[in-house]
Order: sequence, then structure tokens, then C-alpha cells
Amino acid sequence: MPWRRFRKKVERPIDVSKSIEESLEDAADGESEEDAAELAELDDATIAEAATGEPDDDRAPTELGEKLRGALDADAPHRGGPPRSAPRGIAVDRRLGAARSEDPHAASPSYPEAGVDLTVEAARGLRLKNPVMTASGTFGQGVEYAELFDVSRLGAIVNKGTTPAARPGNPQYRIAETPSGILNSIGLENPGAAEVARKYGKAWAELGVAVIVNVAGYSVDDYVFVVHEMTGTPGVVAYEINVSCPNVKGGMLFGCDPDLAAEVTRAVKAETDLPVIVKLTPNAPDVVAVARACEEAGADALTAINTVLGMRIDTRRRRPILGTGSGGLSGPAIRPIAVHITYQVAQAVSIPIIGAGGVTNAQDALEFLMAGASSVQVGTATFADPLAPLKVIEGLAAYVKEHSLASIRDVIGVALPAPED
Ligand SMILES: Cc1cc2nc3c(=O)[nH]c(=O)nc-3n(C[C@H](O)[C@H](O)[C@H](O)COP(=O)(O)O)c2cc1C
Repeated sequence: MPWRRFRKKVERPIDVSKSIEESLEDAADGESEEDAAELAELDDATIAEAATGEPDDDRAPTELGEKLRGALDADAPHRGGPPRSAPRGIAVDRRLGAARSEDPHAASPSYPEAGVDLTVEAARGLRLKNPVMTASGTFGQGVEYAELFDVSRLGAIVNKGTTPAARPGNPQYRIAETPSGILNSIGLENPGAAEVARKYGKAWAELGVAVIVNVAGYSVDDYVFVVHEMTGTPGVVAYEINVSCPNVKGGMLFGCDPDLAAEVTRAVKAETDLPVIVKLTPNAPDVVAVARACEEAGADALTAINTVLGMRIDTRRRRPILGTGSGGLSGPAIRPIAVHITYQVAQAVSIPIIGAGGVTNAQDALEFLMAGASSVQVGTATFADPLAPLKVIEGLAAYVKEHSLASIRDVIGVALPAPED
């Protein structure tokens, strides 16, 4: 059970100015060597890099990082990836991605999903080779992970929330551990749309994986501006609109109000020809009403769901642990909420739904698919195991074979009530 690995006290400040390995070594301070190796498995300590979406290009590989890569190589030699001696950074990864086949079923004949029909329609006009994506904010800009495995095997990656201008993010602490999940309050730390497009566009195209840009803002104009800035960026196939942001004028979250959510959807649709996916917040009083409004406004898909509001208190300091007080709960703790919302929304709209919330393995993904999602995102699970998204793909392929299905599409919505005549 990968969750066991969260023994690390993540309430300690995560200093994003430190290298991943340094953060891990701090966290492992005083623990046994085996503990340190296990901590490294969290994700090569990419919580800071993954959460900010900013790779530390200057960071030299450390013994701990090498250990992780060694463990990953030994764990899954067929998963692909650069040689262990490869330097950190984007250049190597780009070349690897560029070499990938365009054939959706045959990234490599040695991959377990080869030859299994996992293709899905993730949004109107967006067909993916398999239904497994990474969730925004948990996979950096994608390029960081290309060093660890062949990311072209993923259905798609969703980048870190992108705003019009650079944002430094929220004050510490930004992450707190909870039973079966984490609370985060990263605060949309990112370099701004123009810099994201400039810095990652070429790398994304060469990775050979579909990239969905997660768009955030505090006004309708902000969302439109980001999409405008990202237009023409290589590799980008769709936009995911994060409506869990407070509207500067009204103060209310865009995603809590059907009219506001529809207004953003309409404005973004008018700006781009690419599919527009609206990411629902479970904190809305009536999430089904928001979903319907977005569909009517032209959304091409809905992601269900973003994080659930939560809080932890530091009883010693008698204050909330997170710098912002409350934060977003993610991980297995929210999965039943996310599956329930998927099930409700699937009966209310006819556009595709992307399920998100606590997916850690193929069984979890199947719950979402059977509840009506046509694809899923894997988020928090990648902090405990960076290979979790690949394991979900492999597990789904095994399920299709084991049940002699023609395609994974055969399970989409099978748990929904039969439509009334
Ligand atoms: C550290 C962290 C950062 C996140 N950042 C974003 C973000 O920038 N934009 C967004 O739409 N969702 C963001 N999310 C929400 C995830 O994309 C996902 O919807 C949520 O965590 C539920 O999935 P999970 O339980 O698999 O993590 C973030 C989640 C975490 C844990």
C-alpha cells in the first residue's frame, strides 16, 4: 500500500528553494538508511518541484536521487526511460519523447498495454490513446518526470495551474498530511503564461504526449488572457479551466456559481478552437447545476473533481497548520465524494467527464469509469509513487484482457441507472 510511505512528517516546512534531494535528506534526518531510501521513493522528493512546476535545472543528481532511479529501473525495466547516468534536465527527455511512435497502441511492443484498445474520448474533439492523465499541480510541467519513465505512455498530462503573470504562491506551510490524503495550499505558484509557453512548449511537443494546460485566474479576462498567451504552444491539445479560484469582483469562487462558471466557459470557448474542459469544484453548493451550465455554455468536457476544502490545527501552536488556514484535501480520502459527483454529473450532462480524486490504482480508475467518467486523472498518488499512473494504465489493460472486452470503453457508465424510457 503506497500510502504507508507517508510516514514522513510532511508538516515540516517544504523549502522550495532547496533541492529535492536536500528536502528529502532533511526529512529523513535521524532515520535509518532504509527509511531514507523509502522516503526517496515518495517521488524523488518532487513535491516541491512537482507542486511548483519548476524543475531545478542546476541540481546535480545525488546519491538519494540515484537510489530512486535505481529502484525504478529495477522495479519496471519495461517502463522505459533514460539511462541512469543521464543528467537531470529537459534535453534528454525531449529526445526520448521525440523517438516515440505515433501509434496509440504501440508505444513499445514490450509495454503491457500494447495491442489493447484503451482509446477514449476525453473531451469532444480529444481522443486519447488511454484514459489515464496526470492531475494538475501534482506532475509539475511533465518534463521533470520524463527522466524517470516514458511519459509518452500516458493518455495526457495536465500542467501546473497557469496564471496570466508569475505567482510566488502562498506562505508556508503549504502541505499537511492527513489520514489517506494531503491538504495543500500551494497558491498557484507558476512562472506565468508567457514563460510557461516559452520554456516548455518545445519540450512538450517532443515528449510525444498530449498536454492539457490548466488555466487559472481571478477574472474572466485572466482566463482568456492565459489561453491567448498559450495559443499555438506546441504539444497543447486542450485547456482545463480551474474554476476553483475566487472572483476578484464578487469574491465567490467561479466554480460555485453556475452563471459565473458559464461566463468563463463562454469567454474561453470564444478564444480558442481547442477543446475546453471545465474542472468542477466539490465545494459548490450545487455542483450538478454548475456542470449543466458549463455544458450549455459550450464546455467540451468536465473534470470531476478539484480538492475538497479542509483544515488541520497545530495543537501546540494553537493555530491552523497551513499558512493560509484552510487548504484543499486530496487523495483516497476524497475518492467516494469524487465518484459520487461523477455519478451525479454523468446523469445530468452528455459531454465526457474526467474523473479525479484519490485514484491510486486501476481498481480506483474503474470505479470512476463505471460511474460515467471516460477518463481519469492520477494526482496525489504520484507523490507516493511516481509510477502510479503507469500502473493504472497497465491494470486497465489487464482488466480488458481478463474480461475479454473489446475495449476499455465497454465499462464506461456501466454502473449508471438505466435511462428511463
Ligand atoms: C499539491 C497539489 C497542487 C494542485 N494544484 C492544482 C492546480 O494548480 N490546478 C488545479 O486545477 N488543481 C490542482 N490540484 C488538484 C488536483 O489536480 C486534483 O484535482 C485533486 O488533487 C484530486 O485528485 P487526487 O486526489 O488524485 O490528487 C492540486 C492538488 C495538489 C495535491
